[in-house]
Order: sequence, then C-alpha cells, then structure tokens
Amino acid sequence: MVSSEAAPLAKTGGLADVIGALPIALGETGDEVAVVIPRYGSIDLKGARRAYDQIPIYLGPARHVVAIYQAASTPFPLYLVDCPPLFDRKGFYGESGVDYPDNHIRFAVFARAALAVARLLYRTEIFHCHDWQAGLVPALLRSSFSTDPTFLGSKTVFTIHNLGYQGLFPRSALAEAGLEPAVFRPDGLEFFGRVSYIKGGISFADALTTVSPTYAREIQTPEYGFGLDGALRARTGVLTGILNGADYNEWDPRNDPLIAAPFSADDLSGKEACKRALLAEFGLPEAALDRPLIGIVSRFTRQKGADILAEVAAEIAAEDIYIAALGSGEAEYETFFQQMAADHPDRIALRMGYDDGLAHRIEAGADIFLMPSRYEPCGLNQIYSLRYGTVPVVRATGGLDDTIDESTGFKFAEYSGQALLGAVRAAAQAFSNPALWRRMMRRGMQKDFSWKASAAGYSALYQQLASGA
Ligand code: ADP
Ligand code: GLC
Repeated sequence: MVSSEAAPLAKTGGLADVIGALPIALGETGDEVAVVIPRYGSIDLKGARRAYDQIPIYLGPARHVVAIYQAASTPFPLYLVDCPPLFDRKGFYGESGVDYPDNHIRFAVFARAALAVARLLYRTEIFHCHDWQAGLVPALLRSSFSTDPTFLGSKTVFTIHNLGYQGLFPRSALAEAGLEPAVFRPDGLEFFGRVSYIKGGISFADALTTVSPTYAREIQTPEYGFGLDGALRARTGVLTGILNGADYNEWDPRNDPLIAAPFSADDLSGKEACKRALLAEFGLPEAALDRPLIGIVSRFTRQKGADILAEVAAEIAAEDIYIAALGSGEAEYETFFQQMAADHPDRIALRMGYDDGLAHRIEAGADIFLMPSRYEPCGLNQIYSLRYGTVPVVRATGGLDDTIDESTGFKFAEYSGQALLGAVRAAAQAFSNPALWRRMMRRGMQKDFSWKASAAGYSALYQQLASGA
C-alpha cells in the first residue's frame, strides 16, 4: 500500500486510521501487506532499521537521494521514505493552511521511491494506492516503467478517500516531476490544462475503489464529482465502493484507557462519569447533565458542514442543548466555531487543535455526535460514536447514509441549517424519553463495523486482479 498517512505514526484524518488497520485485517484473511509512507519530520527514526541507503531518484535531470527505513515493532512491514529536504518539515502537505509549493516534486519522488521499495525490498504483486499523493504510481507503471521487467504483471488498485483533494498543479509540473509528455491527455493526467495527480489513479489504475457504496455512486454525478465525474463515469465498470471499518482495539468504551470510566451495552453506568468529566474538561455547567450534549470532532473544512451549523447555533443553544467541539483546519471555518463559542459561552465550548485523547473523551462523554457533512466519503467518527453509545445525527450522504439508519441515529437530507436543526430537535425529543434513548444507544453499540468485512472485499478484488479476470 502506498499512502501519505498511517496511524499512529502520521495522521491528519481518517486515511491514517484506514492504513493503520486495514493491513492487519488483510493479514488475517491471508494477504501479505507492506505499507510505504513518507518519513515526515514528526516521525522519529530511533529504533527504525535502515533498510536501504542512498537510492538516487531522477525527475528529469533533477536528482534526489532517498533512504528507506523500516519502522520498529509494527504489525506489518512499514517502510519510511526518508528524504529530509522534501519531507523533514513541520507539516505533511503544507503549513498554516498553505500548501508546500513543491508538493508535485515531493509526491513524485515518493511514488518513485515506493516503486524502488517494491524493486529492492518487498516483492509486490498489487500496488494499492491511496488518494492523490499516491496517484503517480499507477501512471508511472503505465508509462515510464511499462516495460520494466520487475513490474511486469503487477496490478494497481486506487482508492479515493476524498475527491475534494486532487493534487492539481500547473502544466509546468509535468516536466518538473519527470513525467512523460504522453500522459498529459484528458484520459491521462490532464485536467483542463493542469496536471492532476488524482487522475493518475483514476485514469491508469486497474481497479478503482472508494470508501462507501453511496459515495461510489455520488462521485459519478456533477454534484459530487468535483469536475471528475466524467472521468469516473468513463471507468464505472471498474469502480466499486467498499465501506471502511472501525478499529475496535482503539475505539471501544469497554477497553479504552483514554476515557474516564469504561462502559458497555450491558452496563451503561460509566457513560455518565464520562459525560461529567467531559463537561468539566470543557468548562460547561453541570446543568447539562440532564440535557443533550452534542459532541463534534472534525477537521474544520468546507466538507464538514460548519457553515450550516453556524446558521442555527443560536437556535440550538436556545433549546438548552450543549455542544463540545474539537477541531482545527481552515481559518474561515475555525472562525465559525470561535464565533459560535463566543456567542454562547455557557452552551457551546470549543477546543482548537488536534488531540487524540480528547477525541476519545468526546466520543465517550457526549450524548449525540453531530456530522452535518456537505459530503462524506465514509466517515469514521459516526461509526466510533455508535460503539460509544453516542447517537449520531448526520447528513444523509456518502458513508454517513450507509452506516446510520433510523434505528441507530438521525439523518437529514437537505444541506441546510433548517434541516440540520430539524434532526437535532428530533434527537433532543428522543433524548427526553430515557427508555427509548437507551434502546437506541444499545442498538448502535451492538452494530459491528469491524474491518473483517471490508478486508474480505479488498481481498476478493486483489484475487480477481491477480488471476487476470
Ligand atoms: P476525515 O478523514 O474526513 O477527517 P473521518 O471521520 O474519516 O474524517 O476520520 C477522522 C479521524 O480523525 C477520526 O479518527 C477522528 O477522531 C480524527 N480527528 C479529526 N479531527 C481531530 C482532532 N481535531 N483531534 C483529534 N482527532 C481528530
Ligand atoms: C477521508 C474522508 C472520510 C473517510 C476517510 C477514510 O478523509 O473524508 O470520509 O472516512 O477518508 O477513508
């Protein structure tokens, strides 16, 4: 697997959770998986094994030198591409909301380094590439490396975790990234005169997947296609949706060292202690103990619905409903949350930043988990919420629609503040009936979205590709 993130070493979102867990589940189905990620500045190499020294990588005339490390004590081989000038930086993709200007170079070197890992260290039948950062792997295998005997017969799978991020660069990036001019065509890497790394995957991979069945359908429509719906429809025969799983070793209130007290569907008493602790941690009043407490853990971006929440925050607060939110992201959406918290300090509390422990404590302590996403390829937090007895209120889109039904949560269809408010009100109404609410919590807690089913889906796809069917 070629990916720009893998939990726990490098995470900004759900992609990392997937790459940290799916290889283990695949191992249990009998597939042998290694993962390649960049070695970012935040990844400590202490204990890692230097697996290969000094691999020269040429992008046209420009020479970069990488070394490959293998991380210590991981459940599957995890290779780190070390190239300090490109990756030993503060961010993964940029800093303070600004992308690094040489991302096309960084992820071109990364793609070629992943092929070097396959050549030198880990014999590979299937390259499973994730998101635009790995998009050049299928493109290179079908162009510069198409006659290379090492890769003859190897197949590629490309998984779209989020079509909103495409790796778009000016035309000049083609030569700077050492790509053959022949790939610059509309059914290759070209996107309206620019170079699109995600199209490397979409156009050239043998199989395409995305992370839920509904999102697989949605991205073939203009509304959700980000301009790529045509390219995706052209490949509809090889595009499928495989729902993500949840890693219940990390996310289960029966056994979560990060929360105030354990609890389960059979014994919910610990949940109240978790709520009490969460209110205290956020400085919200004890009066909220008897009222619905909404939890939010999110990247604050256009995708996640902060704008429609801001529209109705005052009405939610007026109904004596509380919100504890954690997140960070783009300035515009951070501002929405800061404003909401400033306007309703006794109802809405905000922690800005990235905090894994707090994410767990919100899952455990809240009554309702809110994900009003404009679009959501899969979404993991609503799946974690189910297990923590935190009833999801979600917009019916993508994976949110596939994982939540009226027996376990509340859904709204229209992307509007009023529709969101309607669903929150319905949830608050249900909350006021403790017996009904507990039934709903328990039904969610009993749902099983473990990785086993997803791994079986990927494994079947690998088999099909390997057998040439
Ligand atoms: P996305 O990948 O689009 O951000 P997902 O729901 O698939 O959405 O996954 C988000 C993951 O990132 C979850 O594991 C969630 O707990 C975590 N996460 C998101 N924002 C934060 C944050 N501010 N602090 C801690 N964890 C976060
Ligand atoms: C992306 C999507 C999210 C999905 C995650 C893992 O970040 O936004 O919906 O769950 O990838 O596939």
